[in-house]
Amino acid sequence: MDVLGIDIGGSGIKGTIVNLKTGEFVSDRYRIETPQPATPELIATSIHAVAKHFNWKDKIGCGFPAVIQNGVIKTASNIDNSCIGVNANKLFSKKTGCKVKVYNDADVAGYAELKFGKVKDFNGLTIFLTIGTGIGTALFYQGQLIPNTEFGHVFMNNKLIAEHYASDAIRKKEDLSWKAWGKRFNEYLEYLEKLINPELIILGGGTSKKFEKFSAQINIKTPIEPAQLLNNAGIIGAALLA
Ligand code: BGC
Repeated sequence: MDVLGIDIGGSGIKGTIVNLKTGEFVSDRYRIETPQPATPELIATSIHAVAKHFNWKDKIGCGFPAVIQNGVIKTASNIDNSCIGVNANKLFSKKTGCKVKVYNDADVAGYAELKFGKVKDFNGLTIFLTIGTGIGTALFYQGQLIPNTEFGHVFMNNKLIAEHYASDAIRKKEDLSWKAWGKRFNEYLEYLEKLINPELIILGGGTSKKFEKFSAQINIKTPIEPAQLLNNAGIIGAALLA
């Protein structure tokens, strides 16, 4: 079976038709700019545009950068505040005429990585991190996803929210060298280690492609791996979970 997977990010909305058995793309990737301000109505219009591009009438899965409970958006750290309280499943389904299911973006990307990435079928406690504008987290145990963990919002020792200290956006904003940022990121990983004692950490998001630039600063006990599916994980996972 094929499902249209859509990844809603801060700068772009990307969609592809995914084969659920293999996790492979069965169409090209279509990308449009994320509307600004990213209000729920405008995002719904963009999703409709992606569905129309593929002439899609079937199921759609979306990854969204917020806590999502039963399709309802509960938080808005890096998106428009008007998203809070909106039933995204309902709104996006109505707009597209398709059955749309929405989940947290890190949860879907981590799910795809565990199904089709190099750690396929690993059963131990695993934390998947996406490092971009924010820090997204997904927790897995014995292949089960524990959704909406939001460990990117824990307070670090210096009383800063982790994603305001160690995200990729902060690296760029503060013009940190990879070495300086890598040290900060290592502090965050040490903190996570103490908090949840994972058996494996997987790094996703754009930063995972640059792992070799900061891997020398990473000094933790837990095995850590860059993700294999890279930027495609969000689309594949959204389709799988739908
Ligand atoms: C949001 C998370 C999201 C992460 C990555 C954070 O700011 O709170 O829900 O997964 O950014 O997009």
